[in-house]
Order: sequence, then C-alpha cells, then structure tokens
Amino acid sequence: MAGRGFTVKKHWDNPVEHEMPAEARVPAEMRIGNVLVAPATVLAPMAGVTDTVFRRFIRHASLFSTHPAPDETSIDQTVTNTQSGCGLLMTEFTSADGLSRMRESKRKRYLTFYDDEHPIGAQLFGSNPETLAEAARIVEDTGFDTVDLNLGCPAKRVVGCNGGSGLLRDLPKIGEIFRTVRKAVTIPFTVKYRLGWNDANIICVELARMAESEGLNAVALHARTREQAYTGQARWEWIAAIKQVGSIPVIGNGDIRTPEDAAAMIAKTGCDAVMIGRAAPANPWIFRQIAQYTATGRYDRPAVEDRYRMIRAYFQMLLDESEASAGDKNAAVREVAGKMKQFASWFTHGVPGGAKLRAQIYQAKTGAAVLEQVDAFFTAQSTDEAEPESEPGTADGFAGAAELVCD
Ligand SMILES: Cc1cc2nc3c(=O)[nH]c(=O)nc-3n(C[C@H](O)[C@H](O)[C@H](O)COP(=O)(O)O)c2cc1C
Repeated sequence: MAGRGFTVKKHWDNPVEHEMPAEARVPAEMRIGNVLVAPATVLAPMAGVTDTVFRRFIRHASLFSTHPAPDETSIDQTVTNTQSGCGLLMTEFTSADGLSRMRESKRKRYLTFYDDEHPIGAQLFGSNPETLAEAARIVEDTGFDTVDLNLGCPAKRVVGCNGGSGLLRDLPKIGEIFRTVRKAVTIPFTVKYRLGWNDANIICVELARMAESEGLNAVALHARTREQAYTGQARWEWIAAIKQVGSIPVIGNGDIRTPEDAAAMIAKTGCDAVMIGRAAPANPWIFRQIAQYTATGRYDRPAVEDRYRMIRAYFQMLLDESEASAGDKNAAVREVAGKMKQFASWFTHGVPGGAKLRAQIYQAKTGAAVLEQVDAFFTAQSTDEAEPESEPGTADGFAGAAELVCD
C-alpha cells in the first residue's frame, strides 16, 4: 500500500493527564447522514493496523475478559456496537488511484470486511476528483456504510502526489473533490483532515464550512498541522472552533488515551463523537471502558489473564484469516508472523515479564510458533516474579511497534 515506509510517531509527547469531567460524557449516539453511530466513538483509520482482523477484534474485545464465562467468548457471538463500545469502524486508507485500476479480485483484498463490522467506513486518498469519485462508487457498491476522504496523511509519497495533507494547500481543489465525490455516491461522505499544512496556513474552519456547504455528512479533525506530524499536543481548541461554525457533525481526534481523555475532549470542545487511534492497539478495551464509564461511572482495567485471552484470540483470528485468504500461502504466513510480532509489542506492555515474551516472539518464524510462545509464557506466568511494566495505553505502550504508515 502506498505510504509504507513512513514512520509514524507512536509516542505521545508529554501526555496531559485529564481528570474525568464532572458532567460531560461521550454521547450515546451520533448520526452521520442516515448511519447511526452508537455510541459516538470511532476507531481511527490506521494503515498497517486497522485491517479486517483488527477491526473485528475491536468489535469483540469486550468478550476477551474474565467477566463473561469462558464458553461465552466465541467470536461467533453477536456483539452489538453498544456492547463493544465502538460505534464506527474505519478501514486503513486506500489509494483511489490503485482501487480504480485494480482487478476486481485484488480490490477485494483491500476492501474486505465482514457483516459484524457494520457500520464501517472506507477511507480513500488521492487528488484527482474523477478518480476519487470512481473509487467512492466502488466503496459504495462493496457495501460500506460511509466513504471518507483522507486529507491528513503527511507521508512524502502521498503528499508528493498531492494526496493526503498535501491537498490542504489547495482549498479550491478540495472543493472540486467534495462536489465530484458527493455527486457520485449516495452513502454518507466524510472527510478526515488536519488543521492545515503549518501554523501559517490553518484552514480547518474554512474547510469545515466548505464540507458542510458541499453536502458532506461529518468532518473528523486530527487537531495537528502537517508540519507537527505527531509532535506536541493535539490542539483541541480547533475542534471547538469548527464545532462553532456550523451544524455538520464533528468528530474530534488526537491524543485520547483513556476514558477520562475522551470525556474531557467532549467537555472542552463540544464535539459530537471521539475518534481513537493509537490507544486502540495498546488497550483494545478502551471503547468498552468508555461505554462502561458512561453507564456506571467507573471502568474495569484488564487483568493479566484478560490480556492473555485477548492476545490469544487476536492471534488465532490472524491465523484463521490467513488460512481463509487465497493467494501466496508463504507470504500470508510471513505477514501473519510479522503482524503478531508488531502487536505483541503493544499488547504485552503492562504484563509482568512482557519484555521477555517480546524477545522470544521476535525469534519465532511462523504464526504458530508465536502462538506457542504466548501459551508457554502465560502458563508460566503464575510462578514468574518479573517486574511489572508500564501501564498499557501510556506512551510506552508503543515503544516496540514496527515502522508504520500514515495519517
Ligand atoms: C500506525 C498509524 C497509521 C495511521 N494511518 C492512518 C490512515 O491510514 N488514515 C488516516 O486518516 N490516519 C491515519 N493515522 C492517524 C490516526 O488516524 C489518528 O489521526 C492519529 O493517530 C491521532 O489520533 P490518536 O492520538 O488517537 O492516535 C495513522 C496513525 C498511526 C499511528
């Protein structure tokens, strides 16, 4: 996929510790056109992360805890969005250009999703209005609930073709894209973008106005400039600013690591929904925790056994998906092992002795071998005296992640 090789900053710079606000909570629902998003939480698109396995894993994450009895944890169970706590899933970004030129069978690989992923939005990047419109039609025909335009990716390869955040320097072109794509599809059309190219060129308010006047159904703002990449704090005051200029639903994004942060973003900006990126792979329960907090005023933190069940379930899902997928089996085996290693480094932060497991996993050559290491590690856990590690969901939770892509 285009953009690979761009290194995303996976740490939060000096994260702000928010208190839970006295009143504000993440809303029970929002609407994007005719699509109900309930609760008002969105899994951010993340290239290299939010593939169908990860998305379904997030949808089912509430099952991988010690709270339901073990025989209730089959992922064949129907999990409502309210139970899962995640109201909308998003794909990784996909090249409109690539999509419109691909053979049908190859397209499927990029646009695969399962019934239990609804509602789900597909994100596109590109700069040619007609090509984006054609790709949006493909997205609609494939059955996605919404289509999203990426105006945030800072990767040189994407910006170099004027895609992603590159377009933020050309508002008239964005207007043309909005109009052409809007005419091409009937499903809700959204845009995810950054504040602007740099501090001298902050256009987020104008862009929100334009989105509304061109008939888009929601905007999602990652409250940083392109130049900021992932540094510093997300500037939530700009989310508040775009919320004030119109009536289009606003999804706030940037630096939510905990349920407290999510509620604080709602309190400080008045946004209609929150979008969560980096915290999701470090703490897949975050959506469930937010929902639990809203309902009860408290939330559970995962125990070590919960983490074990979670990592095992996720790895099994990866193996099942690679078995099911057609094509080069050896490549699929390598890809699964790579994904397992990447995720192990996130998931095992917070688990006593996690560093040892990560070291062992990095030696393994196949997914099955990784799974064996995980089983052996957790079986021995009860007798292990290892030092506790930092909490998941903190900046450390991303320390070992492999190079990843975009925004
Ligand atoms: C590994 C990774 C890949 C990403 N890929 C995309 C992408 O494909 N499309 C996009 O709009 N944003 C992408 N982003 C940006 C996130 O969607 C989100 O805007 C950003 O991480 C800030 O939110 P957070 O603080 O909750 O992580 C990516 C971020 C990361 C960490």
